[in-house]
Amino acid sequence: MTDHISVSRDGPILRLGFNRPEKKNAITQAMYGVFADGLAEADRDDEIRAVLFESKGDVFTSGNDIADFMSGAGSPADGEKPQVIRFLEAIATAEKPLIAAVQGPAVGVGVTMLLHCDLVYASEAATFHTPFVDLALVPEAASSLLLPQIAGHTRAAEMLILGKKIAADRAREFGFVNEVVTPDALEETAMSAARAIAEKAPAAMKLTKKLMKGDRDAILARMKEEGVHFAAQLKSAEFQEAGMAFMQKRKPDFSGS
Ligand code: COA
Repeated sequence: MTDHISVSRDGPILRLGFNRPEKKNAITQAMYGVFADGLAEADRDDEIRAVLFESKGDVFTSGNDIADFMSGAGSPADGEKPQVIRFLEAIATAEKPLIAAVQGPAVGVGVTMLLHCDLVYASEAATFHTPFVDLALVPEAASSLLLPQIAGHTRAAEMLILGKKIAADRAREFGFVNEVVTPDALEETAMSAARAIAEKAPAAMKLTKKLMKGDRDAILARMKEEGVHFAAQLKSAEFQEAGMAFMQKRKPDFSGS
């Protein structure tokens, strides 16, 4: 367990919140584990009709904890299925609608998890950044499949190849954000969508989401394929350079790679 994720019930809505603002909500294995458990509970519990992802502090999440990446936490060598994999599989196969309220910058998996949500609301202060290649890594969470499908290849390339940080309005144009609202209106906008979902016929809701999400096996297969490359890159010299550069707050130097 960790108190870096808040878990609460608001009637039929399960609220899962990043709560590690001092590290910009960087996600550890324990935090992925709490999210995965919450999503499993939502699938099991008929009383839960929708799940809301939210966040405390000025950043939605800065993505995977880079120190964890460098120490090898969550690698398959640990034995059991890594918590990050449990989390990614859970968001890809979730039966209840997933809603996200993004109040500030979202980085890495903080963006790719949104591609599995059904409704994404962003504050004007939100930005979206997937600097995988800049960290000598590759996309994850099936984002190499889903982002080109949602945004088109060339727009996805701005994010996944160029590593460009995009603003909330641009993310809405790209198609993975529904609505951009003022920071004050964000929570109520997301909660009112969740409440509207919660009032609707639950069996029809689950079936509709499943039909819309399409071929889960293709998504899970892409996650696996990305995971193989991701794990190999984590062991690479170019990732060591990128990770050290992040820790030392300097630009990485890939000229000798
Ligand atoms: N993993 C581990 N620690 C992180 C982190 C991450 N992903 N993101 C931020 N932190 C830590 C910083 O190291 C810093 O720790 P310190 O106070 O001990 O020095 C603290 O959180 C505050 O971060 P800082 O960068 O000073 O905050 P900021 O407001 O200037 O910038 C971000 C916020 C999110 C834009 C910036 O932290 C960032 O870009 N983080 C890295 C994101 C990333 O590359 N994620 C991986 C994607 S695959």
